[in-house]
Amino acid sequence: MTSPSLLQGNSLAARDAKSLIHAYTNLSTHLTDGPLIIETGKGINVFDENGKEYIEGLAGLWCASFGFGEEELIEAAIQQMRKLPFYHSFASKSTQPGIRLAEKLLEIAPAPFSKVFFANSGSEANDTVVKLVWYYNNSRGLPEKKKIISRQKAYHGVTVAAASLTGLPPLHNDFDLPIKNILHTSCPHYYRYGKDGETEEEFAARCADDLEQLILKEGPDTVAAFIAEPIMGAGGVIIPPATYFEKIQAVLRKYDVLMIADEVICGFGRTGQMWGSQTFDIQPDILSCAKALSSAYLPISAVMVSQDIFDGMVKQSEKHGAFAHGFTYSGHPVPAAVGMRTMELMEERNILGHVRHVSKRFNERFNALADHPLVGEVRSMGLIGAIELVADKKTKRSFDPKYKAGPKTAQAMQDAGVISRAVAGDNLALCPPLIITESEIDEMFDRFTKGLDDVAAMAFRENWQEV
Ligand SMILES: Cc1ncc(COP(=O)(O)O)c(C=O)c1O
Repeated sequence: MTSPSLLQGNSLAARDAKSLIHAYTNLSTHLTDGPLIIETGKGINVFDENGKEYIEGLAGLWCASFGFGEEELIEAAIQQMRKLPFYHSFASKSTQPGIRLAEKLLEIAPAPFSKVFFANSGSEANDTVVKLVWYYNNSRGLPEKKKIISRQKAYHGVTVAAASLTGLPPLHNDFDLPIKNILHTSCPHYYRYGKDGETEEEFAARCADDLEQLILKEGPDTVAAFIAEPIMGAGGVIIPPATYFEKIQAVLRKYDVLMIADEVICGFGRTGQMWGSQTFDIQPDILSCAKALSSAYLPISAVMVSQDIFDGMVKQSEKHGAFAHGFTYSGHPVPAAVGMRTMELMEERNILGHVRHVSKRFNERFNALADHPLVGEVRSMGLIGAIELVADKKTKRSFDPKYKAGPKTAQAMQDAGVISRAVAGDNLALCPPLIITESEIDEMFDRFTKGLDDVAAMAFRENWQEV
């Protein structure tokens, strides 16, 4: 981190603090601490303005699946830029990259979807999903059936509806959210919310029962949809307990409630299959995806809908005329061309096979941290995982927030040369580029562990464990 003195004068860091509002940053401390300025990237590494190298352990924001210098993707963007740098999809206009990518997504989708709608971010995709659910149920003559159930600790983005779906209080506090008709049911985190003596399956049954009780309390005629990330990312990398989605989907079917899969992190290979929905046997009616769709090289997201939902939308057009929704950049040809090349590279390079192979090492290295004195739980699958820090391993007691255990550990890891992130409290996540090799995984975990050990030494010295 840049020291305050460096923020004097006209350094890039000082100009940053004077000019930029940063996402998910303490805006007060940023004014004195300044930014980490990343200048270049190659493979799984990024380099700061002083030339210091880091392993990008989170693939940026769970997104740069091909790392930071994939020439094929850069070339795809350049070629499309030259051919047609922009066109839109309003009023029946179209471009070849958008058509090809839509066809590709339908071909690889985990469910028999009918059509694809493009947006620019995960949040826009999820806001679109909310509007489509409402639009669809209006088309069915069900104007009361509008509530959408999400989960505590879910992350679905930051726009007004997406932030409402998100189940993390900081996204609601003083933003006057959530909006009406968005509800949250229990979080399927067995380590935190499982009861003594309860098996994973019993816990999953209890989560499904919580959902059913909420639907019954609200009235099934008022509940339209349920949204879930297959693995919850920003909520702490929470992997659902065995049989969870099977039991949840049985409840949804009983009450005619749509299943929405938010594949913004899990989509495109993260769990070792193309989709998290395949890993957890989810049969979504609607799916949102983004991030690794273009390896994050350019902004693009997509929403896929079932035939029934598309039929409802067509009916609305017969009633109202145009489908009055869409972004200037929906289906922008340049990100769409990069997205298409990303999908091709996934196949040409057998990225799914690679992830399945190297994830064994990734998971072994995670599991080896289970005995660490600061680690309460280790969770990992495919190439995504986290450790949860605790003050007391036996009672699972968390650290007093005043110690800022998570953020301090992320900083110590960064000092050791790996960028991780503290999410939802004291969880340190790793979600590296999918192209990472076994030896790079070892190097990443060596640095991760060094940062953790440095913080453990500090925690014992300063007695963070005190009750
Ligand atoms: C599961 C999930 N959904 C939605 C989003 C929002 O995506 P964006 O930041 O592109 O708006 C994110 C972002 O991390 C995410 O992890």
